[in-house]
Amino acid sequence: MIHRRKIFNLLQSDQPIDHVLIKGWVRTRRDSKNFSFLEINDGSCLKNIQIVADNALTNYDDITRLSTGSAVAVSGKLIESKGSGQKWEIVAKRLEIISIAPETFPLQKKRHTDEYLRTIAHLRPRTNKYGAAFRIRSELSFAIHKFFRDRGFKYIHSPIITGSDCEGAGELFRVTTLPMDHPPLLDGKTDYTKDFFGKEANLTVSGQLSAEMFALALGDVYTFGPTFRAENSNTSRHVAEFWMVEPEMAFCDLKGNMDLGEEIIKFLTGFILDACIEDIELFAKYVDKQLITTLNHVAEAEFKRISYTTAVEILKQSGKTFEFEIDFGKDLQTEHERYLTEAHFKKPVIVFDYPKTLKPFYMRLNNDQKTVAAMDVLVPRIGEIIGGSQREERLDVLENRMDEMKMPKQNYWWYLDSRRFGSVEHSGFGLGFERLLMLVTGITNIRDVIPFPRTPNSIEF
Ligand code: 4AD
Ligand code: MG
Repeated sequence: MIHRRKIFNLLQSDQPIDHVLIKGWVRTRRDSKNFSFLEINDGSCLKNIQIVADNALTNYDDITRLSTGSAVAVSGKLIESKGSGQKWEIVAKRLEIISIAPETFPLQKKRHTDEYLRTIAHLRPRTNKYGAAFRIRSELSFAIHKFFRDRGFKYIHSPIITGSDCEGAGELFRVTTLPMDHPPLLDGKTDYTKDFFGKEANLTVSGQLSAEMFALALGDVYTFGPTFRAENSNTSRHVAEFWMVEPEMAFCDLKGNMDLGEEIIKFLTGFILDACIEDIELFAKYVDKQLITTLNHVAEAEFKRISYTTAVEILKQSGKTFEFEIDFGKDLQTEHERYLTEAHFKKPVIVFDYPKTLKPFYMRLNNDQKTVAAMDVLVPRIGEIIGGSQREERLDVLENRMDEMKMPKQNYWWYLDSRRFGSVEHSGFGLGFERLLMLVTGITNIRDVIPFPRTPNSIEF
């Protein structure tokens, strides 16, 4: 009995192997007088393996009709290739045709635009580029767990359905079992006491509030899961469903938070250069020629740290005309963020101490009473990749702030409890996983780093 192998492992072999079995899909076929040469890919790596099929094979006629996208099982001998361009090839003893893809298979050997491939998102992982992107996505997920586990962080599963709006931006997807066309009413409004949970519920926009409760018990924790925002902005950096990595650390101030943000970005870029170099090289060749230089730079450069106030001054003195005017109290737009990291400092930048009016209720108020201990990490080509803060641990200050923002305090009684019982300074942040993938692959549209993107008016797959 021979076990099925992965092409990835076969290509690493240091000696010929007498019996191997692989299963995969035909990328190309080329026939000579007595042989058919097939390039087979099984998704385990970017490279194909060449199969040499002899015309003595009983089903040779069928083999010479194999089309791109067809599935085969090949058993044979792994030998050193005489041809150029590959070290190993398989001489087939048996080639079983599992299924034939007709000519209508859309991924014939030619380059397709990303826009077109988005319309066939169910097939695009079979291309070199998207295969590489999703292998990198998989590796990076493991790297995130490794990063935290090596540092003693505990992994928390925060709920997907919640009753709160962590960011207070009102970008919530409602979760309900009420009939939409005739909901029960109370004083003319929908009566959510009749709903499944007996109150309003929504998909989470962030696992932070749960993570805080657990940081105040387990010390250092993190969440890594899907989050949802009904943000009606059709940009290349926003999707409605995305994955976020959210560490939360007890006994940690803003400085410690910035240190961790810098450390994780460096670790992950360094890790991926090591673990996925073949796939990264594909992006360096076809997507962004500067990619490897940029990644090495991110992995090694010391991140620049500046206050929001300084950032605004730099932007005002830049002499550049931005689409959005910048002034103290106005939010930094992507164009501003990119100017700071790409043009001005030419390295990742951490901006801290934002005006409190721009930020959610939970951020710690600074002594100036005007700014909060927030921090955003900005990277080239993307702008904001991390958003976080030190949290307001003082009960009275937090309650004042919630009143100021007209938040229903009674709904957050459990959150406030954490400031009643053993409150300590603590901090955390959210790292957008898709934005991280954009950084490491050079892919410029967030829709192309997530298997099936969800954006306004688009949920085909
Ligand atoms: O800055 P944000 O909104 O921060 C929070 O949600 C905090 N509660 C996190 C925390 O402190 N635990 O989002 C964090 C990151 C952003 O920097 C960005 O990378 C990503 O999440 N992000 C999005 N990514 C894709 N599509 C969207 N619509 C995103 N919104 C935020
Ligand atoms: Mg943010």
